[in-house]
Amino acid sequence: MSTAPLVEVKHLTRVFDVSKPWLNRLIEGEGRIHVQAVTDVSFTVGAGETLALVGESGSGKSTVARMVVGLLPPTSGTVVIAGVDMWAPAEAAERQKLRRRLQMIFQDPYASLNPRWRVDRIIADPIRAFGLAADRAEIEHRVGELLALVGLDPSDGRKYPHEFSGGQRQRICIARALSSNPEFLVCDEPTSALDVSVQAQILNLMRDLQDRMGLAYLLISHNLAVVRHMATRIGVMYLGRLVEVASPAALFAEPRHPYTRMLIDALPDLAMSGRPRKPIEGEIPNPISPPGGCAFHPRCPLAFAPCSAQVPPLREHGARSVACHAVEAGRI
Ligand SMILES: Nc1ncnc2c1ncn2[C@@H]1O[C@H](COP(=O)(O)OP(=O)(O)OP(=O)(O)O)[C@@H](O)[C@H]1O
Ligand code: SF4
Ligand SMILES: [Mg+2]
Repeated sequence: MSTAPLVEVKHLTRVFDVSKPWLNRLIEGEGRIHVQAVTDVSFTVGAGETLALVGESGSGKSTVARMVVGLLPPTSGTVVIAGVDMWAPAEAAERQKLRRRLQMIFQDPYASLNPRWRVDRIIADPIRAFGLAADRAEIEHRVGELLALVGLDPSDGRKYPHEFSGGQRQRICIARALSSNPEFLVCDEPTSALDVSVQAQILNLMRDLQDRMGLAYLLISHNLAVVRHMATRIGVMYLGRLVEVASPAALFAEPRHPYTRMLIDALPDLAMSGRPRKPIEGEIPNPISPPGGCAFHPRCPLAFAPCSAQVPPLREHGARSVACHAVEAGRI
């Protein structure tokens, strides 16, 4: 039996060409302009695990998610899910079979639901597309089951998306995602468009479904507090690179990377330990012209000579990985 993880991402990189059209460039004497959105990102997600990716806006989280589910081709690097290379042309037929096993949930539950379809049709669509039910009666039964599973009433299937609240709409998106019996869900900011109280309900539902169905999640959020109680491991991204990967317990007890520290220091002190809350300082640099060396060095309170000269590699330090010259030199 293979012991390979369900999801294996290696050296994933994505560059966007954001140049002006050719004639404009010629007249204005400008060269091509590239955005380095994701650089050399590697991780694994095992069956039933949750890997969370966190980082500020523009750090490349959604770009990673879109490459993992097959919506956006990588510039380089590989995504292998259940042994199938998502981007190898030779594996197109295998990839088609894999589609059923992986689904995505987006931030805006309204934009991702067809407003002209009734909810039962929305949820039944993947069941039909993948041929997962024998007849109409079986589809209806399955849709009713899925609605109940996500805490809605089977009669809600007769309604349209606009008749529901934001939280209920996200439940519908989850029911639709689960309708093909997937093993792996990629959730890009699944709760950030929702009220705080509703966010907790949706996260609890996701946890509950994971326990029941053994789902693996790639959970994306700009908020460390959201992923703390969901994740098996947390990967912190900065300007397209992973800078620290650790268990939530290790990350919160002892963040090593200065950027992780900055993110944790900015969280509200829920434990009432008296720790002062420090707002995040500085801004994420322009990815068109990122700082050389460690991209965090202009914001880093611990920067020293090597930081502006060399990109620190992501290295294992016990059970965690960190990309920082100061950690490597034993300064932190
Ligand atoms: N289609 C695109 N064309 C050009 N640039 C893009 C495209 N998609 C993303 N980018 C750029 O790539 C970088 C990473 O974007 P991405 O959306 O992955 O970040 P994110 O971490 O998901 O941010 P947010 O928290 O705001 O959702 C950004 O600089 C963004 O402007
Ligand atoms: S490598 Fe240097 S600049 Fe980057 S986080 Fe570590 S200490 Fe700060
Ligand atoms: Mg995003």
